[in-house]
Amino acid sequence: MARIYVTRHLPGTAVERLRAAHDVDLWPEDGPPPHDELVARAREADALLTMLTDRIDADFLRAVEPLRAVANYAVGTDNVDLDACTAAGIPVGNTPDVLTDATADLAFALLLAAARRIRDADEAVRSGNWPTWSPGAFLGQDVAGATLGIVGYGRIGKAVARRGEGFGMEIIHNSRSGGASLDELLERSDYVSLHAPLTPETRGLIGERELALMKPTAILINTARGELVQTRALERALKDGAIAGAALDVTDPEPLPADHPLLTAPNLTVVPHIGSATRTTREKMSDMAANNLLAALAGERMPYCANPEVYDG
Ligand code: DGY
Repeated sequence: MARIYVTRHLPGTAVERLRAAHDVDLWPEDGPPPHDELVARAREADALLTMLTDRIDADFLRAVEPLRAVANYAVGTDNVDLDACTAAGIPVGNTPDVLTDATADLAFALLLAAARRIRDADEAVRSGNWPTWSPGAFLGQDVAGATLGIVGYGRIGKAVARRGEGFGMEIIHNSRSGGASLDELLERSDYVSLHAPLTPETRGLIGERELALMKPTAILINTARGELVQTRALERALKDGAIAGAALDVTDPEPLPADHPLLTAPNLTVVPHIGSATRTTREKMSDMAANNLLAALAGERMPYCANPEVYDG
């Protein structure tokens, strides 16, 4: 029997399944454990079930070794230093595929909300400012016939492309393996949706220069990672009218404090990192993370391993 530290309550029955085979220590609160607490608990553990808010880097691994496995409750693993885990012989699990449609749905929901100014219109109603019907009230932008530029053409990017095609959009994409250049995509697109992983190469990918390349009527959608976009540059672009709007599921910093200057920018919709937040998706993610740990602790390969090279040695 191994000891597993789980850093958040999980939807579904995954924790019970882990408890049936192992000793589980569960962080009881809704927010993440403070880093010191994470280190202290991980020192007592053989394996961790972590969230994207838990930073697992080389210093952490040195402080808590030896760990037998880490299962990250996310498809993204930018919170985990995979190279350091591989060097320490620790397999790292993630949760690909199951959240593709949920995340693509949210990207498209944000696109439509920004295009049709849903947030402004809803706010007007709630604040008693429902205008008498008028030909010029709350004019938004067309989606059908518009060009959707997808940056990062993996599973989620392709799922967003399918949705765009269904809405009669022209799709262009940019990725490491091909498509349009990023500059061309930014210049041509009416909507730019980000789906690239966060890596040293993509951190700050969209800054002042890139925002200036976009059409002044264009809308930026980010459901990938906040750090892909330079926050100050986005704030300025929205305030100066360099682009027409932005709709974000992820921000830098995250969470975004209520008094953050970005929130004073016009035509901005922000939701709190809920891309994968459907009941069934989150339950499937729980099961995948649990299956990854159960396999690793049984001495088997994780079914979804983000650093498969760890098995080469
Ligand atoms: C992920 O899995 O990387 C998402 O951002 C959270 O579900």
